[in-house]
Amino acid sequence: MLRETDGFKTGIKIAVLASGNGSNLGALIEASNSSKINNAEIILVISDREQAYALTRAKEAGISALYFRRSLFNSDEDYDLNIIKSLREHNTDIVLLAGYMRIVTRPFLESYENRILNIHPSLLPEFGGRGMYGMNVHRAVIDAKKEQSGCSVHLVTEEIDGGRIVGQACVPVFPEDTPEILAARILKEEHKLYPTAVNRFIEDLR
Ligand code: GRF
Repeated sequence: MLRETDGFKTGIKIAVLASGNGSNLGALIEASNSSKINNAEIILVISDREQAYALTRAKEAGISALYFRRSLFNSDEDYDLNIIKSLREHNTDIVLLAGYMRIVTRPFLESYENRILNIHPSLLPEFGGRGMYGMNVHRAVIDAKKEQSGCSVHLVTEEIDGGRIVGQACVPVFPEDTPEILAARILKEEHKLYPTAVNRFIEDLR
């Protein structure tokens, strides 16, 4: 996927979609600046939330940051078509979802087939699927008395949290854990796992 442009080799262009704090985005930016993600560059951050701190992180890092307001579009598909237009204008090669709270529609999946990754805060295939986000995941893990949880990076397909897993990291679950404590323990691992998994994924594309 390396492109030759005017005689120069350019790297993989990454866009990140995020709805919230964007701590994973922060970890990805840091990793790409310190070459832990090789031959790739985060060129665009898109959010569906105007106040997402992820947009601020992007601007502070000198990365184009765009907000798309869902209410301006007639359907989820229309909304995604506009996102795709922006991704194309920026010559995006791969898309990383990082705390993106929308389900991507078919046109999006078809435009970037096998090129969209997501990070999920459980050991998939357990504790994934509709309704399994945020504290719901960690509460379910604790209720099920699991001794282990973690995070997974996976390809995004039509099946929610069901695409091929490209990387996982484990953490212990302790009897006294609250969902918040477990979430924080997992988030730390996410910040290591996502850059590593993306780097490997990009190497495999070559
Ligand atoms: C992470 O726990 C991630 O696994 C999930 O959403 C959260 C995003 O956190 N998909 P942040 O916005 O990257 O801090």
